[in-house]
Amino acid sequence: MVYETILVKLEEGIATVTLNRPEVLNALNNQVFNDLADAALTLGADDSVRVVIITGGSKVFAAGADIGQMVSATAVDVSTGDRPSRRAFHLIETMPKPVIAAISGYALGGGCELALVADVRIAADNAQLGLPEIKLGILPGGGGTQRLPRLIGSGRAKELIFSGDFINAEEAWRIGLVNKVVPADQLLEEAYKMAKRFAARGAIALNMAKLAVNEGLRMDLEAGLQYEHKCFSLLFATEDQKEGMKAFLEKRPAKFQGK
Ligand code: COA
Repeated sequence: MVYETILVKLEEGIATVTLNRPEVLNALNNQVFNDLADAALTLGADDSVRVVIITGGSKVFAAGADIGQMVSATAVDVSTGDRPSRRAFHLIETMPKPVIAAISGYALGGGCELALVADVRIAADNAQLGLPEIKLGILPGGGGTQRLPRLIGSGRAKELIFSGDFINAEEAWRIGLVNKVVPADQLLEEAYKMAKRFAARGAIALNMAKLAVNEGLRMDLEAGLQYEHKCFSLLFATEDQKEGMKAFLEKRPAKFQGK
């Protein structure tokens, strides 16, 4: 898989997608979004890929949407354009496998919003996260006003959105924006370790668990519980369910086949 703006590496079932525009701190332009969308579709459909890590490498995650690309846009351009960012974020969020964002350095604006569409976020201790759009006279339009409050609550999200301030990794962990903080030189290793833990589980159960959480968040509790019940019931039609339970009773590790 060769792309103009991202690098994709596949190793032992774990795909690492690295944003690759270092000259502009990995600012996200339409080409990046199109490349990410294509990679999400391809990796999502490839059964040999069990978990996906999205990173910007060791220096910067992404300093936001490309301001140079937006500066002269009109309201008509923005409202009628096809918004490649929206498509990319949707395809990543709905990928039928776990996605981990491994964040080093700045994750700002669209970069922070990209991290928000991942299932889990790991931050290096040098990470700086924020939604500075308000300082540009706009608001976070890549899902930031919707996904951030759902993750950390509306009060804390509004403080970040209204101020445009950056927070460090420790503060991001304290408010639940990232799952874990690790030393910067161990970021990818830690992301990989987590990916391996997920990859050892059954692929269908992972997919259903992700669906149950994501779809459930859109529903009221009763509808969510019903949806969860459907996902739960379906898993009893899989070989992995039989294997998982048999392995437990036989006191041995389960060997899931994703069937
Ligand atoms: N869009 C386009 N280009 C960007 C960018 C963005 N979001 N963020 C950084 N860049 C470019 C800079 O213009 C600069 O290019 P140049 O070398 O041609 O001048 C290069 O990346 C390096 O950035 P610079 O500002 O010189 O680095 P810094 O270390 O002094 O500051 C930031 C880093 C992240 C604090 C600063 O670049 C910044 O505030 N970026 C914008 C963040 C933002 O508002 N994001 C939301 C966008 S909706």
